[in-house]
Amino acid sequence: MKLLVVGGAGYVGSTSVEGLVEAGHEVVVYDNLTSGHRESVVEGARLEIGDVEDGARLTELLSDGVDAVLHCAARSLVGESMADPGLYYRVNVAGGVTLLEAMRSTGVNRLVYSSSAAVYGEPRRVPIAEADRTEPINPYGATKLAFEGAMRWFAAAHDFRAISLRYFNVAGATERNGEDHDPETHLMPTVLRVAAGEHTHVQIFGQDYSTPDGTCIRDFIHVRDLAEGHLLALEATGEGDPSLEVYNLGSAAGFSVREVVEAARRVTGRAVPARAIKRRLGDPPVLVASSRRARRELGWQPAHSTLERMLADAWAWREAHPHGYASSRGDGAESVQPERAAASAG
Ligand code: UFG
Repeated sequence: MKLLVVGGAGYVGSTSVEGLVEAGHEVVVYDNLTSGHRESVVEGARLEIGDVEDGARLTELLSDGVDAVLHCAARSLVGESMADPGLYYRVNVAGGVTLLEAMRSTGVNRLVYSSSAAVYGEPRRVPIAEADRTEPINPYGATKLAFEGAMRWFAAAHDFRAISLRYFNVAGATERNGEDHDPETHLMPTVLRVAAGEHTHVQIFGQDYSTPDGTCIRDFIHVRDLAEGHLLALEATGEGDPSLEVYNLGSAAGFSVREVVEAARRVTGRAVPARAIKRRLGDPPVLVASSRRARRELGWQPAHSTLERMLADAWAWREAHPHGYASSRGDGAESVQPERAAASAG
């Protein structure tokens, strides 16, 4: 297949592109490099730099024989979304609809979308199933859900075969690509920065939750397993009636923040000091997925998603890239990357 991967230079996108190229697909990566990295695009894939809000550009690329689209471009920080909801509606919803319109006008009707567990908000029960209540508690989750709505109506009106994959907490790395965000707010990379001596300690956001050790519980999923999920989902859009199908992708195992810190000590052999501070706004106490539907219908198996494996792979990538992708460019840790400051979509 010829595939357009929108947001294909980001953490999730780039690791998926690796898998898609390995599987023999022709891949065009479309990314504005706001949070993506030019260096993450593997040989064999072509990088086109541009915004998801640029419909003319998307139309031009799609009309060049594209069979299906993987849409991973988004702003994805919960805290940022609370402070600047307009940015999230503009990029995640308006940008997404621009892509849908470009697909409709070029007759490309196969779409796989990177959605999020954030659409559920505070779940009433765990593990969470796809049919459970969706009531996001932040603009990030609300915009992910709004775009799923747009996909559903495009599927009905324009015969799209679309799949939305709701990821839980993505972690780990491949040998080639890993997590390099600025700023970094996610738990695992933050914990590894402490192990590497870049920060003095991990801040644990709240230890008074109603969980066994008082810290939040999350369902971590290896980025390699997500890449496999994307591949299976893209293949699945090749058959069946027009529809939007929704699948959770998680490992079905929950680990607490403290368990992650302890595992990081074991895996890295380093001290990882941690101090509990007050809760972070908008954190649900427990998020664990039921991925039975993806296992049953897509044949998906999260084979790499053990806590140790995710931490070990992320640690290996860090050791090979102590300054993230700046290490590949040889320009050191302190380098300012103007494209990150200037560009607008993720
Ligand atoms: N945490 C800390 N200290 C840190 C960082 C995180 O204690 O320095 C805690 C958080 O409070 C949370 C857990 O670790 O309890 C995981 O936090 P992350 O920021 O790594 O991830 P989130 O669970 O907040 O976010 C993830 C995805 C989002 C998605 C969300 C669903 O990254 O895209 O799940 O709520 F929206």
